[in-house]
Amino acid sequence: MAGNITFTMIKPDAVKNGHIGAILAKINEAGFRIVAMKLTKLSPQKAGEFYAVHKERPFYGELVEFMSSGSIVAAILEKENAVEDFRTLIGATNPKEAAPGTIRALYATSIGENAVHGSDSDENAKIEGSFHFAVTEQF
Ligand code: CMP
Repeated sequence: MAGNITFTMIKPDAVKNGHIGAILAKINEAGFRIVAMKLTKLSPQKAGEFYAVHKERPFYGELVEFMSSGSIVAAILEKENAVEDFRTLIGATNPKEAAPGTIRALYATSIGENAVHGSDSDENAKIEGSFHFAVTEQF
């Protein structure tokens, strides 16, 4: 079914600050099914590839450095309307603008260190999921 998959990363700030369990609980409570998941770490090269779409942005270097600075949790999630519903659950990119109760409002520290990533389209959800997981790792 098209539109039922999204991709997320719990970012190095949230992992370091001990928020993996709380964030996964929010994801479960919101009705997402975990299709694939792993604790991993991005090399600077892999982080650069993942965020290549932002290559020309002034924050690209900072983003790559941060995303390769520590462990992350990568996951593919399934739910009807997954991309949009997950973006609602995590809140705005800038935690100062994130709605109360959203994951970024609760756990993010800044626009750069914003606790979680969520895909912005069905197409990117598939690309990002495949970037991290082989078909044999998806259930
Ligand atoms: P994410 O949803 O993972 O997608 C791109 C990331 O770039 C975003 O979350 C932020 O972490 C980061 N980002 C976006 N805007 C800025 C900014 N102005 N300064 C630093 N990082 C940013």
